[in-house]
Amino acid sequence: MPLKKQSVRIGIIGFGTVGAGTAKILLRKGRQLERKLGFPLVLKNIADLDTKRDRGIKLPAGVLISNANTILNDPEIDIVVELMGGIHPAKEFILQAIRNGKHVVTANKALLATEGQEIFKAAEKNNVDIGFEASVAGSIPIIKVVRESLIGNSIQSIYGIINGTSNYILTKMTEEGVDFSSALKEAQALGYAEADPTFDIEGIDSAHKLTILVSLAFGVPFSFKKIYTEGITKITPLDIQFASEFGYKIKLLAIAKQSGKDVEVRIHPTMLPDSHMIAGVNGVFNAIYIESDATGPQLYYGRGAGEMPTGSAVVSDIADIAGGIRNRAADRVQKTIIPEHSDLSIKKIDDIQTCYYLRFSAFDKPGVLSRISGILGEYNISIKSMIQKGRQADKAVPVVMMTHEAREKDMVQALRKIDRLSAVSGKTVYLRVEGGES
Ligand code: NDP
Ligand code: HSE
Repeated sequence: MPLKKQSVRIGIIGFGTVGAGTAKILLRKGRQLERKLGFPLVLKNIADLDTKRDRGIKLPAGVLISNANTILNDPEIDIVVELMGGIHPAKEFILQAIRNGKHVVTANKALLATEGQEIFKAAEKNNVDIGFEASVAGSIPIIKVVRESLIGNSIQSIYGIINGTSNYILTKMTEEGVDFSSALKEAQALGYAEADPTFDIEGIDSAHKLTILVSLAFGVPFSFKKIYTEGITKITPLDIQFASEFGYKIKLLAIAKQSGKDVEVRIHPTMLPDSHMIAGVNGVFNAIYIESDATGPQLYYGRGAGEMPTGSAVVSDIADIAGGIRNRAADRVQKTIIPEHSDLSIKKIDDIQTCYYLRFSAFDKPGVLSRISGILGEYNISIKSMIQKGRQADKAVPVVMMTHEAREKDMVQALRKIDRLSAVSGKTVYLRVEGGES
């Protein structure tokens, strides 16, 4: 079939969850996109290793191929869309596309967070664009917001629920009492999870996304390895229940805030007061709360994963880049240049100050509580409130405390000492609490 004049031609590598969503939008909304852009987007090829599997969409004859190199070396293709995931050979495919003068769109946050510096440099050298809206928070246009809409602001802090799978699991455990592994299986069946779901549940996927956001927001080099990362695998129904009794929800939170010459960047399960704007963000939904100097606080909310929401973000990048190609726009609002150096450094987790939830398993013997609170006091940790549940002779029972702000290093040392007490059984559970001292 001869290609329409003025069309922008697209090749997708990877016909999985996101590839199928992207193809559905491009094919089903072709006319609408042409009307809005003023020229057609033509999906020339999709490459996948498996060309037989049903992906829920019928492609025109000849579109589906098995060899990605056909797309990478096709002089007619303007934009290569990498939706296969993983590091290799995705990185080599993207670099080859760039060398061949093609613009690139990708949803691959793992690749960008770990190898992005080299990829963005190559794109700059070859004067091509990289679209990566779908790499962070699925359907929420947060890359555009941070890179373009807030360009006149100094961003002070970002608090985000940016992993749909773990938020889905925590919501199912909190609201329906579903156990962890069943909730994870559901998230996988819905197409939310990564190929290796430990990335989702151990906080690694959130750290990949926060790496990208922090670089754009604070102008620091990609710092994935420096991000303190803790997942949700140790969260128990008991802690969810205690959190609720204190008026809190447990969320896997991505936090980035500037203080002086440091940026605090961390991912961990966090207790948020029920009244907090993002405590009620449930299921696969993501939310990002940003405080900037000119705008003040802003909240962005939407589906963070899944076929169509993510496909929507991919298509927005394709349309944006295609508009630049056809209309010969001098440039997009801001080129993505990832700095190699910055005056700001990433704060060590030991130095952060926050409030804490502590759950001890203690034998109900006279003097136990005063010994625990005495050790906390030695480390400048003061208790805000406490719950003790039940009394059982010769059996440890949970004792739960909420503290005022303390330094992480002090907390770790105090708990190490407390856990050595003969009246304390097992390792004390501690969770960080955000949302301000109440
Ligand atoms: P899937 O596993 O569903 O799809 C990936 C597809 O790529 C599979 O069909 C796979 O084939 C194919 N593939 C693998 N290697 C090659 C190759 N060498 N050539 C051609 N095709 C290949 O993953 P998703 O669609 O879920 O994710 C894709 C990317 O999008 C990842 O980077 C992910 O992190 C990101 N993302 C995913 C979201 C989601 O909601 N799922 C949301 C946001 C981003 P086969 O199965 O045969 O190996
Ligand atoms: N696995 C990711 C998530 C996909 O659950 O959020 C979206 O990036």
